[in-house]
Amino acid sequence: IEAGDKAIHPTSSAVTAQDRARVKGHKGGVFWLTGLSGSGKSTLARAAESRLFANGVDVSVLDGDTLRAGLCHDLGFSEAERTENVRRAAEVARILRDAGQVVLVTLISPLRSDRELARQIIGDDFEEVFVDADLSVCEQRDPKGLYAAARAGKISGFTGIDAPYEAPQAPALRLQTGQTNADKLAADLAGFVEGKVAVS
Ligand code: PPS
Repeated sequence: IEAGDKAIHPTSSAVTAQDRARVKGHKGGVFWLTGLSGSGKSTLARAAESRLFANGVDVSVLDGDTLRAGLCHDLGFSEAERTENVRRAAEVARILRDAGQVVLVTLISPLRSDRELARQIIGDDFEEVFVDADLSVCEQRDPKGLYAAARAGKISGFTGIDAPYEAPQAPALRLQTGQTNADKLAADLAGFVEGKVAVS
């Protein structure tokens, strides 16, 4: 931890990551789900969470809308605020990962540079997962009516309409929600996670 020139003195734990993994039966890890609004990030993360938990994995979900209702309630959707949103989520994910948890983060996180920032904050055991659906598919689903509102000019700076989304170039996993059903993709995600956090 970089304390910089601030008068703070972070402590470190005598409990090692190996100790935690021995007790839990798996390593900690962060799985960063990025994708357009309506692509299915939260649905897949929640379904994978249930599967993983049923298999004895200590797992949690850091969901964009939930964070924005609490920890990030002061943030809007400007580029700088989205960066700050990603930074806070990454810091929380790191804390949970360090405590040995498997963390599924679901944030649009539209900019590559922001996802790179998250990767840097989290360090080891960070995997980028692309929840991939065409804009037309997301717009057709429009579960919250936000695309319609954006098209009608009632919301500005909406991702995919008049704000950018930069798709990952080399995600560790790509889930195509326009083509494959959610159950199968949730099983794929849970299987991928279990493979990554398995103790050898
Ligand atoms: S970001 O870009 O990572 O900071 O966004 P995130 O924290 O994931 O929040 C996305 C949810 O906020 C709602 N919403 C918007 N999304 C994109 N652009 C604009 N302007 C916007 N305004 C509100 C929307 O419900 C997103 O939810 P999801 O679950 O992604 O559909």
